[in-house]
Amino acid sequence: MHDLLVAGGTLPNGEIADIAVKGGKIVAVGRGIAVEARETIDASGLLVSPPFVDPHFHMDATLSYGIPRINGSGTLLEGIALWGELKKILTHEAVAERALEYCDWAVSMGLLAIRSHVDVCDERLLAVDALVEVRERVAGYIDLQLVAFPQDGLYRSAGARDNLIRALDRGVDVVGGIPHFERTMEDGRRSVTDLCEIAEQRGLLVDIHCDETDDPMSRHIEQLAFETNRLGLNGRVAGSHLTSMHSMDNYYVSKLLPLIAEAEVSAISNPLINIVIQGRHDTYPKRRGLTRVPEMLKHGIRVGWGQDCCLDPWYSLGTADMLDVAFMGLHVAQMTSPADMRKCFEMVTADNAAILHLENYGLNPGCQASFVVLDANDPAEAVRLRAERILVVAKGNVVFRNPKRAPELSLPDRPGTIDRRRKYSP
Ligand code: FE2
Repeated sequence: MHDLLVAGGTLPNGEIADIAVKGGKIVAVGRGIAVEARETIDASGLLVSPPFVDPHFHMDATLSYGIPRINGSGTLLEGIALWGELKKILTHEAVAERALEYCDWAVSMGLLAIRSHVDVCDERLLAVDALVEVRERVAGYIDLQLVAFPQDGLYRSAGARDNLIRALDRGVDVVGGIPHFERTMEDGRRSVTDLCEIAEQRGLLVDIHCDETDDPMSRHIEQLAFETNRLGLNGRVAGSHLTSMHSMDNYYVSKLLPLIAEAEVSAISNPLINIVIQGRHDTYPKRRGLTRVPEMLKHGIRVGWGQDCCLDPWYSLGTADMLDVAFMGLHVAQMTSPADMRKCFEMVTADNAAILHLENYGLNPGCQASFVVLDANDPAEAVRLRAERILVVAKGNVVFRNPKRAPELSLPDRPGTIDRRRKYSP
């Protein structure tokens, strides 16, 4: 007896297939699978996708919007200052409670793996302990990966380096950093070397907030690619944000992109946040502040879309929906061709999963039975509609159900239901 059969759904590659689940794993995928299952769900006409993955988030700050006040200027720097005020009044319970509530939102959106940075510039490591606890509590349905993140600077903030090591000792998974926020360019460069060496010694992945600025001279990504190669960390390092690349000289970028590709450093772009935070010092023309996503893809660099923030000192919106993130990224990066739109969906699913090094991710037999059923015909339509999540299965269990809605028009001459889905052949 199987646990679950999801029948007749459309996979992201367009194939129609049934998916049979047993013991938390996908055991069969194909047409007309004849197995007995405790529950069978008809997914015909619906898109069945591996779950959404967020490669860049701040779960210690999430859902804190307005505490103790709102970011008036909307800038990164006021956000960091405001987070400093909030940090002083955080409690373990409040951080854990907000994080758990956010994880509920994530489940309802089919977002089942999240890489969250956690600030280690606090002697108490209160947020670290709270999120390590949350990681355990949600492990049955969400893969939460934690990054030791020295928000106020590895060297600029007293004790931050020791705290980062202590956080890693307490089980934080990934090494983080913020070179553009150190006191000098040289300190930033040294921090990248130091952090990569720590990761190499401990066998950990690296994810650095890198060049999150409009300053075209912020070039720490160059050092990150260099250290990745030198230490043999290829494929294990991500540069988050990389917004300075938006403003860099084209000639320099033409040298930089092959170096990033050679080192197999992944890029994580956070379009919701970059579009509202960058360019704040500009008049007009006002820069978009997004890194060069299509150009990096052309160079074979793995790029993910990340959410970064949700209702916190930096961002006053957010719903844990990675389709919102893909939608914004698609617009700002002008990725509007059918292939590019499909790519944007892949970036918030399979590509992000690869950045996190998630094991057994996907819809093949033997993969973990985690997937999401969406009210859409295909990936591009899912992005266009930010499609309704109909069903979410996590590690073999149905964790969210949303019976298909039938919204009705009540116009005098055009009564009836409305269907925003539309078949088209690009
Ligand atoms: Fe961030």
